[in-house]
Parts: sequence; structure tokens; C-alpha cells
Amino acid sequence: MNASTTVLHFSDLHFGTEIVAARDAALLAARRIQPDVIVVSGDITQRARQREYLAAKTFLDLLPGRAKLVIPGNHDIPLLNLPARVLRPYAGYVRTLGAPEGVWNDRMTAVVALNTTTPFRHTRGRVPVPAFRAMAEQARKRIGPDGVLIAVIHQPFVTAQPEDADEVLMNAPEAARLFAELGVDAALSGHVHYPLLRTTLADFPELPRPFVLCGAGTTFSHRVRQGAPNSFHAMRVVRGEGAVARIEVTAHVYDTGGRRFAAGETQVFVRDAGGWQADR
Ligand SMILES: [Fe+2]
Ligand SMILES: [Fe+2]
Repeated sequence: MNASTTVLHFSDLHFGTEIVAARDAALLAARRIQPDVIVVSGDITQRARQREYLAAKTFLDLLPGRAKLVIPGNHDIPLLNLPARVLRPYAGYVRTLGAPEGVWNDRMTAVVALNTTTPFRHTRGRVPVPAFRAMAEQARKRIGPDGVLIAVIHQPFVTAQPEDADEVLMNAPEAARLFAELGVDAALSGHVHYPLLRTTLADFPELPRPFVLCGAGTTFSHRVRQGAPNSFHAMRVVRGEGAVARIEVTAHVYDTGGRRFAAGETQVFVRDAGGWQADR
């Protein structure tokens, strides 16, 4: 078997702070790539305002295809309106964008998108363990034991920059063990606006089955970090025989002068029965 699935990973759109030319370039890039599924890993808005949600909805509706999985980030919860934050933290999100989690699959790949935000801690997040277990087991049934299972979360397991160390999932070690146990193949995250591509081997060496960590930058918000221009990832998932699979992740970086996203380096990860490793 040698089929492939293309996953487009946008993140941290932060509508309200979007760079219009970069937003339009992202739309063109998505139409050029024609992915099988598009995921957006949170922080859809800057301040959870209705007009920001409406701008996001317009953009998401213009993206190609019907397979889109979008999750909230901490910025999609009202910050200053305390009653709204406590009583109806996702009201604006759900009213405009729909459910804050979801599952998509084709014959060989499943994507489980999780709401990892926590209104009471605001910026910090966690993997909801029982909910994720149920979603992952349901997804696994649809793709079989050798299918590729991708999880989408907002806060990451690890960060590239040491100063972001406090931004990781509050239950990162527990969630990493759970992901490994459930056979998650890749975790796609956002939040820190700084891309990261590696396996869990360096940060969670005790895991019996390493998986791939794909952190995305901000696709088109001006909230970029030093050394991390606007970008997104396009992932090609390829299944081989049995446990054999590969994921090719291509970074697309925004060129401010040319007002377009240009495909940059591709990093390849390969899977055998023991889990994932970088292909050198
Ligand atoms: Fe963000
Ligand atoms: Fe965030």
C-alpha cells in the first residue's frame, strides 16, 4: 500500500492582528496545495471579539475543501469579561465556528482535534485525558492498527525557546504517556509562535513509542517572534506495508517582499514497529 494524505497545518491566526497580505497569501497557498484536510491549532482571534470571530469565519469558509478542524486557543476565551469567561467561555467561538473539537479521517489517516484550553488558568492548557482517550479510540477503529493518528492541540509538549518553558501543557508528561499508549503518531500544536519539528525522543526518552512533535508558528498574525517569521506546515502522510509510514513536513515561510508563502525545507520522519524517528 502506498497512499498519501496531505494535512495543512495553520495556527495562531489571531484575527484582529492579521496581516492582510499574508492572510490572502495563505489562502492562495491553501488553494495551490489542495490538502485533504486543514487544521488550525488555536488562537483564532486576538481577544475573542465577535467581529474577530466573523472575520475568521469568512476566512475559514474561503479555504478549499470541506474537511477543516479548528480548535480554540487561550486567546479565544474572553480575558477581561470575567462572568463570560467563567460562565460561557466558548460561547462566541461555538456560535461562530461550531464545536471546539472534532475528528476527521480518510482510509489511512485520522485527525483528532482537542480543546486544550482551561478558562480558569487562561493561558495554560491541558490535554483532557478521558475525552481524548474516547476520541482517539473511536478514530483508531476507523483507520485500523496501522493507520496514522494525528492529534491537534493548542499548547505544546515542548518549546524550541527556553523562555517559553512555562507555556507547555500542564499535564505534558502524563499526556505524552497517554499519546504513546494510544499510538498517536504526531501532535500538532501552536501557541508559542515558534516552529518546532522533532520526535519526543529527546524530551520524553522514557516513552515506549516515540511520536512526532510539530509546532507551528503564527500563519499571518503580526505577533511574530524574533527569528520566526509567519509560516505554516504542509504535511504529507504516506503509508507503507504494516507499521511502515512516513511523514514529510514542509515549512512554508512568508516572504514579506514577495507577499507569498514559499516552500522551504522538508523534514522527513519515518515509522517502524518501534515508533517514529527523524530520517537522516
Ligand atoms: Fe497565539
Ligand atoms: Fe495561545
